Amino acid sequence: MTEIIDGNAVASQIRDDLTAAIETLADAGARPGLATVLMGDDPASQTYVNMKQRDCEEVGIESHHVDVDGDASPAELYDAIVDLNDDPDVHGYIVQAPVPDHVDYREVIRRVDPIKDVDGFHPENVGRLVAGDARFRPCTPHGVQKLLETAGVDTEGKDVTIVGRSDIVGKPLANLLLQKAEDGNATVTVCHSRTDDLGAKTRSADVVVAAVGVPELIDGSMIGEGAVVIDVGVNRVDADTEKGYELVGDVEFESAKEQASAITPVPGGVGPMTRAMLLYNTVKAASLQED
Ligand code: GUN
Repeated sequence: MTEIIDGNAVASQIRDDLTAAIETLADAGARPGLATVLMGDDPASQTYVNMKQRDCEEVGIESHHVDVDGDASPAELYDAIVDLNDDPDVHGYIVQAPVPDHVDYREVIRRVDPIKDVDGFHPENVGRLVAGDARFRPCTPHGVQKLLETAGVDTEGKDVTIVGRSDIVGKPLANLLLQKAEDGNATVTVCHSRTDDLGAKTRSADVVVAAVGVPELIDGSMIGEGAVVIDVGVNRVDADTEKGYELVGDVEFESAKEQASAITPVPGGVGPMTRAMLLYNTVKAASLQED
């Protein structure tokens, strides 16, 4: 029987575990605060931001939100960032991506105080992660690691193939799994859109992580028997539903499930974990700033 890895259940446990730490910080006068910054009105981003605020409420993190007009200048967004850097009630914040085309997201990230960079995107935090001294593990890779851990998957010595080389998921996850650490020590292959014979690389892997943003790119014929499959993809595809779309992963679930020993569903796999790890990083940021 293939195990369906329940991201909602694991995320719920993580939120429960965080609640006690949050109350301890609050008792010491430092209730953790998380801010979200949204520039423009992309509906998917709005949904994500709303969910993050709801998550905060549930665990006792104070949530703040800043809207920046989609037509505003980059300088207006930078001003909002300066204010958040200076705000002692905000221990961590994220600038929701994507930003409008006239704004360079890298320039934005460079202005975030690294100690408040709960996404882990600032070059200082990227450098620390690559050097094996992560301050904030980026939320999705950290969520993937937690899912592997709770599913009892030890990556030591195992072949892990990651499909996708993004700065947010593929690259940081590859670095984390490669490290000499309890949740690392893997042999990591990173594939991307130019990879020759992708199927050969995924089929030979003990663990396949799909984070490429192509609906159902990876099907059962590309999964080795007994492999663990982690699907990071969240793709909106047109469908005859009330909303006019449905969410599918980067993995064709039904055929991959036939091959896998364990697999994450979409939705309900990695997504809730990403949100839980953002709360985790916020609590960590508050603890670091309290000292
Ligand atoms: N947009 C999609 N995923 C993310 C994320 O992890 N952080 C931010 N800031 N924006 C995103």
